[in-house]
Amino acid sequence: MIPVITIDGPSGTGKGSLMQLLAQRLGWHALDSGALYRALAWAALRRGVDLADAPALAELTRDLLLAFRDGRVWLDGEDISDAIRTEEVGMAASRVAAHPQVRAALLDWQRAWARPPGLVADGRDMGTVVFPEAQLKIFLDADPKVRAERRYRQLKEKGLSASLRQLILDIQARDARDRTRSSAPLCPAQDAIVIDSSQMSIPEVFERVLAEVRR
Ligand code: CDP
Repeated sequence: MIPVITIDGPSGTGKGSLMQLLAQRLGWHALDSGALYRALAWAALRRGVDLADAPALAELTRDLLLAFRDGRVWLDGEDISDAIRTEEVGMAASRVAAHPQVRAALLDWQRAWARPPGLVADGRDMGTVVFPEAQLKIFLDADPKVRAERRYRQLKEKGLSASLRQLILDIQARDARDRTRSSAPLCPAQDAIVIDSSQMSIPEVFERVLAEVRR
């Protein structure tokens, strides 16, 4: 069986950084499932597909030629890595991700990432739905205000404009949608280790998780 580590949790808890650090240290593959939902949302916005039209969105997933290469996200040969990181696309991703039909259409694509020597997968439902048999499941959480501040700094570093007040509101709205949707609502798997990263740096979280990996 291919070893899998899942990292789930809401936006801005440091899941992405933790996934990269772990994958690098272990020499395993890394799956950023949020980028998948973001790419779909981005394609839907660009092609004028209604974000409420589940059958059309599920159809769109079958058309997308999506590739993750060299740490970049490619869609139909176009590098969309930066374009999908905006808050607008994040919010749209959360809307398309609420459709059970869309989530079902993306399942096999995600599971195909479990390849030797192993996989670290980051998202909202990695431990609950996509890889329920994973050997280690981490659920990272943090105070919404701390998460908004982290997101604010990230956007600033990338030279993108942002309002902290608006980010807090966006995070709360996205959390509410992700936690209350009927299909794969955001919650820790029963066998997940829950870590609150509000007062922890990324290296501290990494060390804490590494101790679990070695156990
Ligand atoms: O970067 P951030 O943590 O803000 O978000 P993301 O991981 O890129 O995911 C964007 C949105 O996609 C989330 O708000 C979720 O609604 C959705 N998503 C999901 O439903 N399931 C996943 N496995 C990953 C993302």
